[in-house]
Parts: sequence; C-alpha cells; structure tokens
Amino acid sequence: MANFFPRWTNWLPLKIAICGTVVVCGLTGATWYYITPKYTRVGYQPIQPVPFPHDIHVAQLGMDCTQVQKDNPKLEPVRASWKTGQPVEWVQLHRTPDYVYYNHAAHVNRGISCASCHGQVNRMGIMHHDKPHSMAWCLECHRHPENFLRPETQITNLDWKPDWEKPAEFVAKYGQPTEATDDWAKKQKLTQEEIGQTLKERWNIQPPLNCQGCHR
Ligand code: HEC
Ligand code: HEC
Ligand code: HEC
Repeated sequence: MANFFPRWTNWLPLKIAICGTVVVCGLTGATWYYITPKYTRVGYQPIQPVPFPHDIHVAQLGMDCTQVQKDNPKLEPVRASWKTGQPVEWVQLHRTPDYVYYNHAAHVNRGISCASCHGQVNRMGIMHHDKPHSMAWCLECHRHPENFLRPETQITNLDWKPDWEKPAEFVAKYGQPTEATDDWAKKQKLTQEEIGQTLKERWNIQPPLNCQGCHR
C-alpha cells in the first residue's frame, strides 16, 4: 500500500512541540522581565481632572486663600464639585494589592519619611510614581531600616539630608549606638547609617520580615 503521508511528517509533532516550548518560554521570560513593578509603575504619571502642581504650591506655602484663582478654567471641576457635592475623581497612583497589609502610621511615626516611599513630591510639577513599591522594595528597607531612618521632626521635610544634622545636638538628643567607639558629638557630620543606626537602637525599630507581617 502506498504511503499516504510523506516520511518527513513523522517529525511534525516533535517540531511543533519544540517550537511551542520555545515560544512559551520566550513569552514567559519577557513578561517576567518587563511586567515587573519597576517597568509598569515607576514613572506612572496619570492626567488628573485638575492639574495640581505640588512644586508651585509648596513654594508658595502659606499663601493667602484669597489668592485662589477663582476664575481659572482649569479649576472648573473643583467649582462643580463644590456646587454638586460630588467629589473630584482623582486618579489613584499608589495602590498595594488587597492581600498586602500596609499602614502609613506604622511608618511615619517610626522615623520613615514620605520621601523614602514617594520621592520628592515637593519638586514634582505633575505627580508621578517614584519608587517600585514591590515586595522586594519593601523588604530592602525592612532588612536595613538604618539606611532610611531620620529624626521624627524631619518626616515631612522632603529636602532633608543627613549632613544637615548637627552631630553635637543629635547626640545630645538621641545618643549614639552602644557599640560605637568614637565620640560622634565631635564629628564634622553624621552619615545616614550613623543616624539610622542610632535611631534604630533608640526606638527599637524591628520591621517585620516574616510573611505574616505583610500578608495577614
Ligand atoms: C513606607 C512607605 C511609605 C511612606 C513612608 C509613606 N507612604 Fe504614602 N503610600 C505608600 C503606599 C504603599 C501607598 C499605597 C497604599 C494603598 O494601596 O492603600 C501610599 C499611598 C499614599 C497616598 C494615596 C494617593 C495616591 O493616589 O497614590 C498618599 C496621598 C500618600 N501615600 C501620601 C503620603 C504622605 C504625605 C506621606 C508622609 C507623611 C507618606 N505617604 C508616607 C507608602 C508610603
Ligand atoms: C523606607 C523603609 C520602609 C519601607 C520602604 C517599607 N517599610 Fe514597612 N516598616 C518600616 C519601619 C521602620 C517599620 C516600623 C518597625 C517598628 O515599628 O519597629 C515598618 C513596619 C511595617 C509593618 C508593621 C506595622 C504594624 O502595624 O505592625 C508592616 C505591615 C509594614 N511595615 C509593611 C510594609 C509594606 C507592605 C511595605 C511596601 C509596600 C513597606 N512596609 C515598606 C520601614 C519601611
Ligand atoms: C515587608 C512586607 C512583605 C513581606 C514581609 C512579605 N511580602 Fe509578599 N508581598 C508584599 C507586597 C507589597 C506584595 C505586592 C507586590 C506588588 O504589588 O508588586 C507582595 C506580593 C507577594 C506575592 C504575590 C506574587 C508577587 O510576587 O507579586 C506572593 C506570592 C508573596 N508576596 C509571598 C510572600 C511570602 C511567601 C513571604 C514570606 C517569605 C512574603 N510574601 C513576605 C509585601 C511583603
């Protein structure tokens, strides 16, 4: 009996299987690599119903309310909201998934600045997502909070830098870690690690590292 299918077709299923595997692996790899928060979130800068330039408002902080540009057409949604009582529908930028427990108070009352998680919002004309807010990112700080901790008076000071601290005043107020050998009060300036290490010890900072800490 004549062979109905030519010989090469014997290999066809194998070829299809190999091709399929390569394509699937490629797609998985690409998705894994690119659809990470770093690519999908950082820089996210949605257009809001009313433009709100943080930089201008912060620069003019303390301005008198009578200076509000009451006829500016850009502010129409705000006027409409006032008349109708309907809130302005701002676009949410930062959103942790529902299976993650997150609490602002637990951070800003324990020496972590808004700037560590949102960047220098006071310098943003249009607000954007500045940090990845991925699990790895949360853990990076939870493992080494000393790289971020700052005095409680500087939490909302988005321009603060470690070398602004006067060592003598800092040490008088917070002390220095027990294992430090030299007198930090005599230093020219303090580093972030020195400030962070002191505060970590003084406030007994222990961010959760176990899964239940953030997935309750
Ligand atoms: C430890 C990190 C961290 C710190 C510190 C922090 N935030 Fe957040 N912030 C977040 C996360 C995470 C979310 C998303 C929360 C959610 O999904 O409900 C968020 C959400 C917000 C939002 C919601 C608006 C939106 O659309 O994104 C505002 C406003 C905000 N933070 C302001 C602040 C201010 C002001 C401070 C300082 C006083 C601050 N945050 C400090 C992590 C932080
Ligand atoms: C820049 C540093 C930093 C980042 C980023 C950060 N955390 Fe924290 N987290 C802390 C510190 C500091 C504490 C307080 C630890 C303490 O009180 O001893 C804390 C505490 C917590 C707690 C315990 C709160 C409680 O009520 O018991 C949870 C939960 C938590 N963080 C979740 C998160 C999640 C989720 C993220 C990422 C979206 C995140 N954190 C990002 C520093 C950080
Ligand atoms: C400091 C807080 C924190 C801790 C501790 C933590 N997670 Fe997460 N986890 C998160 C956040 C935030 C996300 C959401 C990430 C995102 O939206 O990009 C997440 C996402 C996840 C996801 C979803 C898949 C993914 O990769 O996005 C899984 C699964 C997960 N965590 C498992 C765990 C396990 C297992 C542990 C313990 C070994 C753990 N987590 C500890 C904060 C935490």
